Amino acid sequence: MNIQDIQKEREKWLTWKDIKPLRTALDKLPDIDAKVTISDTIMIEAPIPQQVRDEIDQTARLMKPWRKGPFHLFDTFIDSEWNSAIKYNLLKPHFNLQGKKVADVGCNNGYYMFRMLEEDPASIIGFDPSPLCKTQFDFINHFVKSDIKYELLGIEHLAFYQEKFDTVFCLGVLYHRSDPVSSLKSLKKSMVKGAELFLDTFMIDGEEEVALTPKKTYSKIPNIYFVPTIAALKNWCIRAGFSSVEVLEVRKTMENEQRKTEWIPGQSLDTFLDKNDPNYTVEGYPAPKRVYIKATL
Ligand SMILES: C[S@@+](CC[C@H](N)C(=O)[O-])C[C@H]1O[C@@H](n2cnc3c(N)ncnc32)[C@H](O)[C@@H]1O
Repeated sequence: MNIQDIQKEREKWLTWKDIKPLRTALDKLPDIDAKVTISDTIMIEAPIPQQVRDEIDQTARLMKPWRKGPFHLFDTFIDSEWNSAIKYNLLKPHFNLQGKKVADVGCNNGYYMFRMLEEDPASIIGFDPSPLCKTQFDFINHFVKSDIKYELLGIEHLAFYQEKFDTVFCLGVLYHRSDPVSSLKSLKKSMVKGAELFLDTFMIDGEEEVALTPKKTYSKIPNIYFVPTIAALKNWCIRAGFSSVEVLEVRKTMENEQRKTEWIPGQSLDTFLDKNDPNYTVEGYPAPKRVYIKATL
């Protein structure tokens, strides 16, 4: 696989007709020397005229839906569907990124990567094939001015990517893959010996080494292929070549983490669950629960 050709091809995705107007809006953004505070909310502040604040607000609204965040840009609070600080803060005590080469696979708009800046890593590269997510990232990074790199590549390309990593995050991606073991192998091939993988995925309870395979949708999400028990997930990791797997946390997704806000169209978690019994999804499957693991090479 020639990664350079794929990279070139994917850059063209930024000229798609629904993305192009957003890129044009990006090109018009003023250069602002802003104060950036990395905390649960990524805060960007500067004493700028009201008209410029309004223009930035309009640009942010053009880029909806905002799934991950929150971000505070001048007068605009991007209250994303997910409060991503909850996942990041859960994982934070388990890693030390200082001086490390870090990859975030399925990085969405880069919320976690901006959080990682305070850890002083050697480099951060995000991978996500969504041109809208990259455009949101470029919008925020226009003001943050970090040297985080963003590739429009997927987990399947990691094995062939030119750089190798000390720490890889792959959060909320594995259940979207119809080939979980191959995906884990691809991640493994992008890692140096002794590197760490932080991963979370939907899970089901049980001791057996099995996975739920949703018929059409899971929690109204169409592209969910496998929801494993922890035992099955551990087997996937070991078969992909990881030497150890540590379970860091198991948690149900609650409405303080995922909910409807003005920054997304349509519905969110509350309408994905059975009205009479929130322990089940509308399809009758166990309600979303996630396992967070660290797998070591
Ligand atoms: C459920 S979101 C998870 C986002 C974030 N990592 C988190 O945990 O909050 C899944 C992300 O995976 C991205 N994605 C889709 N296909 C992918 C692929 N082949 N490789 C990597 N990421 C992919 C989507 O664009 C989306 O940003």
